[in-house]
Amino acid sequence: MKTSYTLTAKILHWLMATLFIFVWFIGFYSDHFIISNTDPLRSTLIGLHKNIATTIIFLFCIRLFWRYTHPVPDLPDTMSPTLKKLTHIMHIILYMMLILMPVTGCLLSWSVGYPAPVLYLFNLPTLIHANPEFKAIIKPVHIYLSWIVGIMVVGHIAAAFKHHFIDKDNVFKSMMFK
Ligand code: HEM
Ligand code: HEM
Repeated sequence: MKTSYTLTAKILHWLMATLFIFVWFIGFYSDHFIISNTDPLRSTLIGLHKNIATTIIFLFCIRLFWRYTHPVPDLPDTMSPTLKKLTHIMHIILYMMLILMPVTGCLLSWSVGYPAPVLYLFNLPTLIHANPEFKAIIKPVHIYLSWIVGIMVVGHIAAAFKHHFIDKDNVFKSMMFK
């Protein structure tokens, strides 16, 4: 029985988790704690938000390939079949969020006529023209999804800690570097 994720899966999980949480807080901070739209700090932070978040698209492609070509550890038998199913669904939704967040972010940027830059090196090819009607739809989508995923990640972290400290099973350790 497999008891641990592969080293590559662990590196991808922790790298993407760090980038995702960092980007989330920058987006939230610049939108809610910098009141003035003309404050240069806001555009600097939104720029940083975009330049880092777009890398998740590339990492996601590698991670998806890795996930389908390498088995993951089984969940412990102490978990009920329903809970195992729910955990599996939760992971699928988290994967969807990992790609939906950067994609809706890029669509939002393009819809206002801005680029989607990657690590201050180059811009992703612009796939749509500036479009105020589309912006009115995609902006709330990006923002509401960010709140939903924020709540989900808190639940995901709480579940990981519950496995480790309360259930004392192998789930948390399976994602750790030994
Ligand atoms: C992992 C990917 C991403 C996450 C987790 C994320 C998260 C967030 C969050 C939390 C906010 C603030 C929401 C609020 O107002 O409450 C935000 C805003 C924003 N994000 Fe992202 N984002 C991601 C990717 C991107 C990308 C790739 C772009 C563009 C290339 C982008 C462009 C924006 C813009 C322009 C705003 C400001 C929206 C406004 O004008 O109010 N985001 N994002
Ligand atoms: C401090 C933050 C985090 C901790 C402690 C953590 C912990 C874990 C642990 C222990 C696992 C493997 C056990 C399991 O749940 O089956 C896991 C899997 C996973 N995590 Fe996280 N995680 C964190 C952040 C994130 C973030 C931010 C995301 C994405 C937005 C994420 C997405 C996933 C996904 C999709 C899996 C399933 C992997 C698979 O089976 O293919 N995690 N996480």
